[in-house]
Amino acid sequence: MARKKIVLVGAGQIGGTMALVLAQKQLGDVVLIDIPQTEGMPKGKALDIMEGRGVMGTSCNLTGSTDYADIAGADVVIVTAGVPRKPGMSRDDLLGINCGVIKTVGEAIKKTAPNAFVIVITNPLDAMVYNMQKVTGFPSNKVVGMAGVLDSSRLACFVAMELGVSAEDVKALVMGGHGDTMVSLYECVSVGGIPLPQLMSKEKFDELAARTANAGGEIVSLLVRGSAFYSPATSAIKMAEAYLLDKKSVLTCAVKLDGEYGVKGLYCGVPCVIGENGVEKIFEVKMNAAEKAAFDKSVEACKKNADWVDANA
Ligand code: NAI
Ligand code: 2OP
Repeated sequence: MARKKIVLVGAGQIGGTMALVLAQKQLGDVVLIDIPQTEGMPKGKALDIMEGRGVMGTSCNLTGSTDYADIAGADVVIVTAGVPRKPGMSRDDLLGINCGVIKTVGEAIKKTAPNAFVIVITNPLDAMVYNMQKVTGFPSNKVVGMAGVLDSSRLACFVAMELGVSAEDVKALVMGGHGDTMVSLYECVSVGGIPLPQLMSKEKFDELAARTANAGGEIVSLLVRGSAFYSPATSAIKMAEAYLLDKKSVLTCAVKLDGEYGVKGLYCGVPCVIGENGVEKIFEVKMNAAEKAAFDKSVEACKKNADWVDANA
């Protein structure tokens, strides 16, 4: 059986980290693609990881390129191409510049990899994945955005740190857009199967939820040059793995809603099942009135950016 081909468009901080994780997990052969101005960078990163394969015990092949033709035949394409946040910038400040990047990349994917499962990471996430689906014209089950896996992982991390337990035993659910309006659900967190309300007050949870909503900004202000990349990379690979291995994983992803949650035609973060057909099912979570109001506000934020894409892209 031929190895799967995984193309990473954008070979920067997240792209390079994803290449390493993909090689370690032996999920397929990897192609790292960036713009010609980066010269040898994607080739250098690919070769660097290739040279570590003996130590890692992996046989996957990695190549670097500055030619979109090398997207051809990809099974999975993960897109980070674009510009990341700098201190003081919101994700929405990236809208105009990254919209153009997604258009170029989306047209190349459409032309050369019509059967690919496409995962978008570029910010502002919900608008960029909306734009990607529009440009490619691919069915919406094959175009998803990565954010909810990361945001939920961040909340789970903060809960675990607060309770002094292993992060792997905490499951959390953060929904809505990937921005300040994201919604953390108190009753949807479990700690080794124990509902969080039995272990933590709502007041403490609200503090952790606020930190989660600002977690990307917290890393930006620490790194100064660029934004988070290790946890975004591992989050996206979890989604790719669910697709490639038909795991039927329940992951919160930015998906195109078709009436679920009373929303139609808009990308927003909700829990769904990812398997060999991409997005196979969307779960509708019960929310209380305050949570639903917060979710609706988050949907509004996604709509505002999607409207911008429709008007300008
Ligand atoms: P980075 O700047 O390290 O990498 C981006 C790469 O894209 C650069 O190497 C750049 O040369 C390349 N690029 C630009 N235009 C391109 C084009 N037309 N074709 C191919 N490559 C192109 O940035 P990083 O840290 O990897 O972040 C990438 C994106 O992911 C940013 O937009 C950032 O805001 C976003 N992000 C999203 C998260 C999420 O949860 N969805 C989390 C963290 C970051
Ligand atoms: C993050 O959440 C900036 O969206 C990026 O880290």
